[in-house]
Order: sequence, then C-alpha cells, then structure tokens
Amino acid sequence: MNTEKPDRNLAIEIVRVTEAAAMAAARWQGRGDKEAGDQAAVDAMRTVLETVEIDATVVIGEGEKDEAPMLYNGERVGTGNPPKVDIAVDPIDGTRLLAEGRPGSLAVMAAAPAGTMFDPGPCVYMEKLVVGPDAAEVVDLDRPIGENLQAIATAMGRQVGDVTVVMLDRDRHEEAKRQIRDVGARLQLISDGDVEAAIVAAWDDRPQVDVLYGIGGTPEGVITACAVKALGGAMLGRLWPRTDEERGLALDAGYDLDVVLTADDLVTADDSFVSCTGITQGNLLRGVSFDRKGATTESLVMRAKSGTVRIIRARHRLEKLRQYSSVPY
Ligand code: FBP
Repeated sequence: MNTEKPDRNLAIEIVRVTEAAAMAAARWQGRGDKEAGDQAAVDAMRTVLETVEIDATVVIGEGEKDEAPMLYNGERVGTGNPPKVDIAVDPIDGTRLLAEGRPGSLAVMAAAPAGTMFDPGPCVYMEKLVVGPDAAEVVDLDRPIGENLQAIATAMGRQVGDVTVVMLDRDRHEEAKRQIRDVGARLQLISDGDVEAAIVAAWDDRPQVDVLYGIGGTPEGVITACAVKALGGAMLGRLWPRTDEERGLALDAGYDLDVVLTADDLVTADDSFVSCTGITQGNLLRGVSFDRKGATTESLVMRAKSGTVRIIRARHRLEKLRQYSSVPY
C-alpha cells in the first residue's frame, strides 16, 4: 500500500472538523462580534483536527503566523501519520454574515495530496467564474461576462433571461453588473460568502443559481476549486492584484497575472476532499440548530476522485458542544 497517497475518503473524516467549527461559531450568530465568532470556530477546528489521521500542512489558513495565532499558513496539523496532505481551512466563510445574523455562513475545509494545492502567495483576490456541468465546456474568462452568459444559456437550453448569476455586492463589480443587466440575465447580489454561492452555482442539485461571477478571495477560490472537481462543473480564475504594490510582489514571486487558472490548476491532484457545514441557514445547507439535548448540523461532503457528494445531518450531544465551544453550555 502506498501510504503517501490519500486512499481513504477523507471528506468523511474532516466533516467532524467543520461540524465542530460550525457548532462553536453558531453561538455567536447575530451578536455583532466577528472576531469572537472566528476565534470560536478556529479553536474548535483545531481541537478536532488534532485527532484526524493525517500529516497535513496548512496551505490556505488564517494568514501569516504572527498575524494569526492559529491555523496559520505552513502550520503542520493532524496526528502526523500518513497520508501527507495539503489543507485549506476557512473556519467561517462569511464572518460578517454570522456576526450580523445573516444567511449563508459556512465552516469549510478542503484537503488534497501534499504539494497539489495552489499557494496564492501575496494575491488576496481573484476573478472567478463558476458554472455547473451543463455549461462547463462553454465558459471562457477571456470573453466578457455578457458573452459568457449567452453561451451558458445556449448550453443549458434556456433563454438568457432564465439564467441566474450570483455576485458579491462590491463597487469593483459595477461594469460586470451593467453587462449582466444588458444581456437580461437575473442577478443575485450577496454581501459575503462566495464559497456557498459558488457551490450552489456548480451543484445541479441546487437550481436557485446557475453562475457565480466576480472578484473574491483567492483562498476561497482554492477551496471552491476542490469542490468543483467533485461536483463536475467548471471554475475559471485569474489573479487580481488590488494595488501596484501587490502586483509587483506577485510578479517578483513568479505569478502569472494574465493566465486563466482552471480548477485543475488550483488543485493539481485528481483527488480532493471538501467538507462544509452550515452555520447560519443558507441556500446550500441548514444552519446549526440547538435544543435542550444538543445541536443538529448539516454538512456537504465530497470527494473529487469518486465524485461522491453526501449530505450529512448529524445530532450532537451537549457534551460535544461543551468540548468544542468557548461559550459555556
Ligand atoms: P471572510 O468571512 O473570511 O471575511 O470572507 C467573506 C468573503 O465574503 C468571502 O466569501 C469572499 O471571497 C471575500 O470575503 C471577499 O472579500 P471582500 O469582502 O474583501 O470583498
């Protein structure tokens, strides 16, 4: 047996990590404290990660070591036993959503064989276009979004007016918004959380949205790529430096800022694993609910190699909540 390669469905194991993060974070719903919610999720994630049989390096984490005391880029986690994997963690995608009590926040983690995840270096943002399997062959990031939407509609056998695009509500998207409106597609603007939005766009089980477009976080982009590989749609991306300084840093570090990156460029392995657990109620998953005996979570877990996608609804006893949470129960 080759112990260096993931040969188990790690998604089934890492779901415990995202469940723990979601339960710990969920107690901070609507309490207006982004940092406390994030810290609770990180702490819970770390507690469970220590028990997962992997020798993992955090490639996408909570930033540099000195800025984030936990789950920093380059940190080694897991039990240290094989398989060797890269991991990407986003203890809360949508910290503001959670703090303001809005829908769509998730706890998410992805894993792939060591050395196969794209390291975004200094690039904080990327342009992203995500579609489901029906339109996977027709998208082209070198064409304007309006033209892509016409091609997507044709590939899906629809009128463009029946195609729904989800996009982060940001000033940098004014031109894209104009083009989307000009071709007559439907537009859903979200305040945060483009991982959830991208998964809903890629997954044909969730018909509310067909396309994710726009500039969002690069870490979220790498996680999205892992998910798209399992769901069978397409993701195209391009690094998007915010400033001349960031552009210079990226070029000096050898990044190509013009190249279109596919999901296979962002995760080069044919196998990747993703687990995400709903924190607040969303379009993809139910949020965490509490009762007097414990909590219920809903998670989506997927594996690229097999294309297996599972929804796992789990009941957790009060003891578990106490174990993971910094809020007293
Ligand atoms: P965090 O929860 O980590 O803050 O990310 C939320 C998010 O909306 C992501 O989903 C998205 O990719 C990114 O922020 C967009 O960045 P910005 O808010 O700077 O436009």
